[in-house]
Amino acid sequence: MEKLIVHGGARLEGAVNISGSKNASLPILAATLLTREKCIVRRVPDVSDTNYMLQILQNLGAAVERASGTVTVEPADIKSAEAPYDLVRKMRASVCVMGPLLARKREAIVSLPGGCVIGDRPVDLHLRGLEALGATVETKGGNVYLAAPKGLRGREVDMRGKHGTTVLGTDNVMMAAVLAKGTTVIEGAACEPEVIDLANFLNKMGAKISGAGTSRVEIEGVKELGGVDHTVIPDRIEAGTFLVAGAMAARDKITLRRVDADHLTAVIDALTACGVPIERIGKTGLTVGRATNPIGANIVTEPYPHFPTDMQAQMCALFAVTPGLSVVRDTIFPRRFMHCAEMKRMGADIEVDDGTAVIHGVESLSAAPVMASDLRASAALVLAGLRATDNTEINRVYHIDRGYEHIDDKLIGLGAEIERLPA
Ligand code: EPU
Repeated sequence: MEKLIVHGGARLEGAVNISGSKNASLPILAATLLTREKCIVRRVPDVSDTNYMLQILQNLGAAVERASGTVTVEPADIKSAEAPYDLVRKMRASVCVMGPLLARKREAIVSLPGGCVIGDRPVDLHLRGLEALGATVETKGGNVYLAAPKGLRGREVDMRGKHGTTVLGTDNVMMAAVLAKGTTVIEGAACEPEVIDLANFLNKMGAKISGAGTSRVEIEGVKELGGVDHTVIPDRIEAGTFLVAGAMAARDKITLRRVDADHLTAVIDALTACGVPIERIGKTGLTVGRATNPIGANIVTEPYPHFPTDMQAQMCALFAVTPGLSVVRDTIFPRRFMHCAEMKRMGADIEVDDGTAVIHGVESLSAAPVMASDLRASAALVLAGLRATDNTEINRVYHIDRGYEHIDDKLIGLGAEIERLPA
């Protein structure tokens, strides 16, 4: 195990390249199972979650190669239809092999992911969608057994649950439907850019998907899909995290390169409302600096295009040192506030109740040993550490390595002082 020591009082400057999107890469890698032909996926971030997904593909029988961001998957011989517990338990997103396996092998045995620190995270909507396409679903011994021996049939499927729609659930049904007989209509589909990227990937393989990025997606089933060469979209959450890093710790300003600012509208609007100066540079660049007169704000997380839950923790870090009152409500994962308890250990003034954090900005945070609880919480603690008075020790950093490609090296490149040490 490793820990990070983040030196406080950072003054960031220079430019950072944003990596390809983790959350787009994961379902896209799973989608390679839908063909027998070679698939090349570019800009896959080198993070442990994408490594777990590649292990799952290999375990199922695919040949996988990875060289500096480019992953080649040769899925000609998919012998198994089973994703085992020892891999699935490491990463919840493994459930997105259900749809492709069911379409390709007409069966899927996937270990059910347990809860995780950000909430219960059920898969009932995924199963409801796949069942609607004709799969039988049985849960036994912690595994879900899906079968469609005669193939899947297109139908109208509603993906809405009590917390709104589901991103990976939409992905799973879309991936199952591409090879089904007839037309599937997904109502209440997730509109996230990562869903659009998956649909683009599938369409390049020969699928017939329209409406991705809206709440109604139509999929006309085809007989087979072919190989593809695809570059994943930039990681909007990594970009958002660096925007907050600039807002909290830029000397003057920092530049983010290789971003898609259109995917960041809600985040840019929220930061701008706090007084943070952000400018677009051409099509793929952004600059961000510290606010001259920073003010707190109210934020509510909701499905895209609204403010993303995956940026909630980082905003809490910013608000912890922003004068005045801020209120952050997470409607998607109301229990995702573990970072607040850790930031309180650093002197933040935060009260969390019923899915809402009420934050009174303090002048400065003081360093303390803290514990990363999940991916975005760890990023928030790193951000808080940059603004603390001394050296912050962040334990359990394997959480951050699940989804941020070399975050410490990128911040060091911007002038931060961070050490990675054995814990
Ligand atoms: N939900 C259900 N039933 C389901 C599925 C979801 O009730 O069958 C609920 C969830 O409990 C949650 C809400 O629906 O309250 C939305 O969850 P969703 O299914 O959209 O989440 P996900 O697809 O499992 C992806 C991202 C998450 C991100 C969420 C929300 C990936 C690999 N993961 O998860 O990313 O928080 O969408 O935008 O794409 C992260 O990167 O840190 C991360 C957690």
